[in-house]
Amino acid sequence: MALPDGKQAMSRLLSFLMTVLRLHRVEVDREEGVVRKKRTRMGVVIVWAGNGYARLAKERVRVLTIPRWHHREAMIYEHLYQSPLQTLSNGTLVMKWMGISVKGLLTSQERGPLFRLDLAREVSRSLSELHGMQFDGHAVSHADASMTNVVYDESNGKTAWIDFELVHTPALSTEERHADDLRAMMFTYLSFLPEPERPKAVHAMIQAYSPQPALLQAFSNQIRDPKLRRDAYHRAQVRLSDSDHQKITGLLVKEIGTFAG
Ligand SMILES: Nc1ncnc2c1ncn2[C@@H]1O[C@H](COP(=O)(O)OP(=O)(O)OP(=O)(O)O)[C@@H](O)[C@H]1O
Ligand SMILES: [Mg+2]
Repeated sequence: MALPDGKQAMSRLLSFLMTVLRLHRVEVDREEGVVRKKRTRMGVVIVWAGNGYARLAKERVRVLTIPRWHHREAMIYEHLYQSPLQTLSNGTLVMKWMGISVKGLLTSQERGPLFRLDLAREVSRSLSELHGMQFDGHAVSHADASMTNVVYDESNGKTAWIDFELVHTPALSTEERHADDLRAMMFTYLSFLPEPERPKAVHAMIQAYSPQPALLQAFSNQIRDPKLRRDAYHRAQVRLSDSDHQKITGLLVKEIGTFAG
């Protein structure tokens, strides 16, 4: 069903704002091995307005308020990376530097196809590890599993997911939340790959995650749903032409069929 024109326009505007406006000031200090992150005043206003719109438009995610974001980020860092976070009195989070952004690695084109294939596998494996974790009595989902939010540690070849200020709405089931993360991960990773490399990467990522049948079904439903593609949230995450989006959807549908069969 087509969205009303007004909502389409609003969704386009919001996704544009989400990509150009910065909610946070992030300082990466490689010498000290830390990252400092603070929500800006403008960020607080944008989050308030954005969450209001998200409620009205029934978007699938919300941005956490500062105390809830700090709490969630600290719990996940401690559990997954055994790395406690520090919160300064001015609201700055100080966390361990975990590696180079995967988006940066893929766009720099310094590495070859074999590295990109191994990286695809590792990114997917680490997402499935994150999904195995419980927080507040629920299985964790990332809610913005795009390539700006996963980093690669060259010293051990592992990837780590970062940036936990978004949450999926509680109305979504665990499978729907995890499927949404799989969607964001797949589409954003594949969008940075040359087209001939995509089929092998899709195969490697599905194998490395190894989804259960219920999750595979939810994933299959989501990638075929044209309405979800028009969400402001989805538009901001996945910036692909319609034809590229369709090609990747086709690859995923084919791979899901092979994996399920
Ligand atoms: N712990 C970390 N280790 C290594 N790099 C980090 C870390 N935290 C943040 N970064 C770097 O800073 C960038 C921005 O950080 P983050 O994603 O937390 O902020 P953001 O405001 O949500 O930005 P974006 O909207 O681009 O996702 C990341 O893409 C990554 O390159
Ligand atoms: Mg981020």
